[in-house]
Amino acid sequence: MDLQYFLCWRVAPLLLLMPCGLQCMSVHILNEGPVYVIPGSSLVLRARIEHETLEEVSTVTWEREPESGTPKKETLATCPSGSPKCAVTRPSVRVNVEQQEMTLQISEYRRADSGVFAVTVTDHAGAKTTAHCIVREYEEVHHVSVSINVSHSLLVCGEAWGTDPHFRWLHERVAITESVGMISKDGTTLFVTMAPICGHFTCMVSNKRSHSSATYTAAPCETESRGTTAAVVCLVLLLLFGGVLAFLLWRRHRHNNRGERLHEHLDDTI
Ligand SMILES: *[C@@H]1O[C@H](CO)[C@@H](O)[C@H](O)[C@H]1NC(C)=O
Repeated sequence: MDLQYFLCWRVAPLLLLMPCGLQCMSVHILNEGPVYVIPGSSLVLRARIEHETLEEVSTVTWEREPESGTPKKETLATCPSGSPKCAVTRPSVRVNVEQQEMTLQISEYRRADSGVFAVTVTDHAGAKTTAHCIVREYEEVHHVSVSINVSHSLLVCGEAWGTDPHFRWLHERVAITESVGMISKDGTTLFVTMAPICGHFTCMVSNKRSHSSATYTAAPCETESRGTTAAVVCLVLLLLFGGVLAFLLWRRHRHNNRGERLHEHLDDTI
């Protein structure tokens, strides 16, 4: 059992409802961090305050500081208890307080809004408790590349720093079949089963913001290209042969007609 829970619900009543102080007040952010936000859209963070009836929340503040570099706290909102309104430091920030739940919203999210967000609850005795959540920009797909591991017949697709990249593979612009290879669970690696490895292998990477692709070009697929050439030559020969035949038939037909006409002419004059 959770120690805090135990203290709050089992020990506190035994101590004749003595104020149990900070231990019984807690706050947590309900979003699972890190939270990734597409620039221009809204960031919404939800927090929940757990406290006993004995103690009262005095103020709630929302702050932000950069994830790295020089620490510099920026206060986003301060909500005094009892007052229906929170004081915000920017017009794009809004805070909603509803009983034990609270939402912080930043509209038109920009890269500069990224960082570690903190919500701090202060009780009447001045004791504070804080919860943190990392917020980052949802990055586009960057620098897709395909490399080959010849000794293990592997093609590996790389992507630099895009958020939540999804990988898809094509061989000669067609989805990979069993006769070509198998794709690893995370999609980044293609175990090539075809031998020898030939043709174009394309890796396509996408996420909510963008997509990009890269192609590995192996030697041309021999049998296939030879087969195609043979088919084309056959077709050309067939057409030529057909053409010659048609011409010969046409000539014979014309010749016969002329002969008949000559006969008719001769019959008339006799
Ligand atoms: C090829 O793949 C194997 C297995 O994943 C790995 O051990 C090996 O180091 C790779 N070789 C190169 C040249 O990357």
